[in-house]
Order: sequence, then structure tokens, then C-alpha cells
Amino acid sequence: MPVTAGCGEAVAAMHLPGSVHNIVLVGFMGSGKSSVGREIARRCELRFLDTDSIIRQKYRKSIADIFASFGEPTFRDEEYRALEELQNARRVVLATGGGVVLQPRNHPLLRSLGVVVWLTANEEVIWERVSRNQSRPLLHTEDPRTTMRNLMSMRYPLYSSVADVTVETSGLTHQEVADRVLAAIRALSVGRHEK
Ligand code: S3P
Repeated sequence: MPVTAGCGEAVAAMHLPGSVHNIVLVGFMGSGKSSVGREIARRCELRFLDTDSIIRQKYRKSIADIFASFGEPTFRDEEYRALEELQNARRVVLATGGGVVLQPRNHPLLRSLGVVVWLTANEEVIWERVSRNQSRPLLHTEDPRTTMRNLMSMRYPLYSSVADVTVETSGLTHQEVADRVLAAIRALSVGRHEK
């Protein structure tokens, strides 16, 4: 299957000595990690994985049901475990849950997996996306918009601190975001290579 030029270069860069093996997408709920991740994986012939799906499959329950039955701390432990178990993964695009950055112990695991890309978007855009469905238990509050705003202001510095690159997604299609992610990884790999 032919690969696009952008993808080809990004994948080649992933094979550089000491370079990255996987692409890890972090970002707030509704930032497009899964859709963009699938698009990048399709283009680059990488495997797409998603920590939420891994946990859902293990428990055979929705994330909302896992939160309700076992509580958030159990879910957070499972996120950590999923990252640990993925440490030998290669040629994977990994989408992570929006809260993966909350645990400091996850940060080195995210970084050691590969290039960490923060998909960011403004509050309006995120709200427009997350208010469409009820699948996110943390937003099941009386005032979900305020909850969302508070979570965003608490988490944005964490995404920023763990990410190698940041891609602004507001107003862009998943294809356009994928283009930007691959371009950013290429630029990063060139920079690393030149050092
Ligand atoms: C969460 C985000 C969700 C999911 C869970 C908790 C969070 O994933 O992991 O509901 O803490 O932000 P998405 O970011 O894919 O919505």
C-alpha cells in the first residue's frame, strides 16, 4: 500500500538510532486523539491502540460503568498498568485517556513509549465535541461546562510538561490534524538528528 510522503518520512525518522518507536497522543477529552490516531495509523501502516479501549475490553464494561462500579482510582491504576504493559510496543499510535497525565508515575512511561503529541483545542471547540455524548463520567455533574473548564485549567500545564510537540486542532479536520502531527514529528526528528 502506498504511503504518503509525510508519513514515509515520519516513519523513517522513527527508525533513527535513539529515536522514537511509537506516537503517543495526549490531550483533553474531545481533542480528537482516537480519530486522529486512527488516521495516522492508517496512513503510516502503524497499529492503533487506545488505553480506554484496552481497559474497556479487560473489564467488558463501558468507562462510565467502570467508574460507577469500581471507582476512579481503579480506572487510574488500570491506565498506569496499560502503559506499563505497552512499554515494549513498536510501531503503534497510542491514544490515551484525557486524565492519563494526572499521575506523575505515568509521565516517564508516556515519554519512554515514543514521541508525545499534545492535541489541544480551545474551550468552545472542546465543549462542542464533549457535550454531544454522555460517555464521560467526569462530566456527569450539575454544571459540566464549569467542570470542564476547571479540569482544563488544571490539566493543560500537565499536557504541556509531558509533550514533545503541541498541535492546535481547533477548526481543523482529523486529516488536517494528522498532517500537522506528522509534520511536527518530522521537524522534531530532524532537530534531534542534527544535535
Ligand atoms: C477521562 C477521559 C476519557 C476516559 C475517562 C476519563 C479524563 O477519555 O479515559 O472518561 O479523565 O479526562 P477521553 O479523553 O478519550 O475522552
